[in-house]
Amino acid sequence: MDLRDQRGIETEVYQPAEDSELLAEAACGYLDKHGRDGPEATILEVGTGSGYVANRVADETAARVIASDLNPHAVRQARTEGVETVRADLVSPFADDTFDAVLFNPPYLPTEPENEWDDWMEHALSGGEDGRAVIDRFLASVGRVLAPDGVVYLLVSSLTGVDEVVERAGEEGFSAVAIADESFPFETLTVLELHC
Ligand SMILES: C[S@@+](CC[C@H](N)C(=O)[O-])C[C@H]1O[C@@H](n2cnc3c(N)ncnc32)[C@H](O)[C@@H]1O
Repeated sequence: MDLRDQRGIETEVYQPAEDSELLAEAACGYLDKHGRDGPEATILEVGTGSGYVANRVADETAARVIASDLNPHAVRQARTEGVETVRADLVSPFADDTFDAVLFNPPYLPTEPENEWDDWMEHALSGGEDGRAVIDRFLASVGRVLAPDGVVYLLVSSLTGVDEVVERAGEEGFSAVAIADESFPFETLTVLELHC
């Protein structure tokens, strides 16, 4: 089945939007500020979609950048864009203590079960009933793959509940600082920097 539209874009893959841009911009700035942008650094983008954020980090730093996505169409598009991409559920295949930074623009829209629509775009957008189903699993697992002093850049929305995400991150042993935000008519997007 051909999943490309007339412009050759994968229709089952989340294409870069304001959230992608905010995460890329904030993470690149803070990787530079904290000296995690050198050739010795290894950075993971979880849920890379089109590969846009991973490519921005690769272009703006000297780090080795790796990406993962659950969606096979996203893996294909990101690889076509030159990103070293693994098909994976969150961080599951990666070794302990590997990454100096992990970035994630997660699926975060609160979605009632009767409104779930069961395709790859749902996996890109829906965070379950409270919007935090994937975020909570990510927060429970990402610490394992972080190198000592590693850092997480996580995009969250006011629709998802920033305070709730910060609280959950705290329960998983992270302290959180908001490093960027941007408001739109229906939501405010925030990038959290998480440290163990
Ligand atoms: C909101 S999109 C962000 C895409 C891209 N990073 C960007 O910012 O443009 C969320 C991405 O996470 C991926 N995803 C959802 N659940 C995942 C999981 N359990 N493991 C890996 N990737 C997942 C989706 O397939 C989708 O590509």
